Amino acid sequence: MNYEEIREGKVKCLVPSEYKIKVSSELPVFYNPRMRFNRDVTVASLKAYAKLFKKSFTACDAFAGCGIRGIRFAKEVEECRKIILNDIRKQAFDIILKNLELNFGKKPEVNDDKAKLAVEKKEIIVENKDANVLLHENFSKIDAVDVDPFGTPAPFIEASIVALRNDGLLMVTATDVAPLCGVYPKACRRKYDATAYRADFMHELGIRILIGFILRISARYDKVIIPLLSLSKDHYYRVFLLTKRYGAGKVDRWLSNLKYVKHCHCGYFVISEDNKKERCKICKRELLISGPIWTRELHNEKFIKKAGKDVLGKLYEILLGEARPDAPIFYYNIHKRCKKLRITPPGINEIVEEIKSRGYFACRVHFEKEPCIKTNISLKELEMILKTRQK
Ligand SMILES: C[S@@+](CC[C@H](N)C(=O)[O-])C[C@H]1O[C@@H](n2cnc3c(N)ncnc32)[C@H](O)[C@@H]1O
Ligand SMILES: [Zn+2]
Repeated sequence: MNYEEIREGKVKCLVPSEYKIKVSSELPVFYNPRMRFNRDVTVASLKAYAKLFKKSFTACDAFAGCGIRGIRFAKEVEECRKIILNDIRKQAFDIILKNLELNFGKKPEVNDDKAKLAVEKKEIIVENKDANVLLHENFSKIDAVDVDPFGTPAPFIEASIVALRNDGLLMVTATDVAPLCGVYPKACRRKYDATAYRADFMHELGIRILIGFILRISARYDKVIIPLLSLSKDHYYRVFLLTKRYGAGKVDRWLSNLKYVKHCHCGYFVISEDNKKERCKICKRELLISGPIWTRELHNEKFIKKAGKDVLGKLYEILLGEARPDAPIFYYNIHKRCKKLRITPPGINEIVEEIKSRGYFACRVHFEKEPCIKTNISLKELEMILKTRQK
């Protein structure tokens, strides 16, 4: 196997040269350059977490691959004092040791299947275990857990919640977007104990199903989660959640934020406490019912501001719009609505301004490549605006 050195953030890393031909789980040690944004936002989020919640903390990169993520935590986040890097593959464990030496100029001390390195006032530990075993062994000892497996994170959520201390940060990547957003309803039922059908707002639906699933697992441990930042990007979702230990009554109240969305192919949708069958108010067809979904905020404004514009780039302003407390759940896909009306879509900013001038809420969203709008205007009135403003 050939390895070559790459640079990202403040670190250097040996990665398999094959990544340039094909990135897949078949690589002996995993590295995906397309996930750089994911790692950049994670580093920024850990810095934001330190400013808002914990002055110094322990982090665990439970699916470390070549180690680039965990080594970035060590190099770039001053407040991150202890870091555990773990991967189930022996080849990954071995390359993590080499990458630590490359970045810190010191060989980790190896004892059987565990290694330690003390550098720059930090303690770095490398493990070679199944993540669930490692996380259970670290019951209530870790402040920030990064879950970044291949495909679904579902089998690793419970152990992550167990490992987290109070006011912990749970960071989860899900690359099984298709089941979550309604493309494979049976897989969604199996993995997330939830139902998802296709909708115009498919990626917000997927994220709300993922968060709902994590909340139901947290509740078993009298913990709740508070979303700080939720992203839909390329082929994955990424959520940053604060976990809090609450009394039973408060956890029950938090669970009441789990609801359903009833939606129709015509574009109509409504949030509902129940999942009883209902007909569409507009076209009278039977509504599809997706959920349970998390129905409160997906982001925290302060957290986005601390994570910063530098790393979030053009998403920054859009995320702040979505983070507003009066932003409604879900959105309309302007292209799809216009296609149905057989008209050419007007500019997105023009529609947002027109809706606002009529006294309603409107903002753009980051979830889809196509232009979409969150608004509390009715579908009927939105379609009238689209018709009068068409190009
Ligand atoms: C998507 S890669 C991680 C990439 C890495 N976080 C990064 O940013 O470059 C998933 C990694 O999880 C490891 N893995 C898969 N199942 C695991 C398990 N049950 N426990 C621990 N590691 C596991 C794989 O060997 C692989 O290196
Ligand atoms: Zn309808």
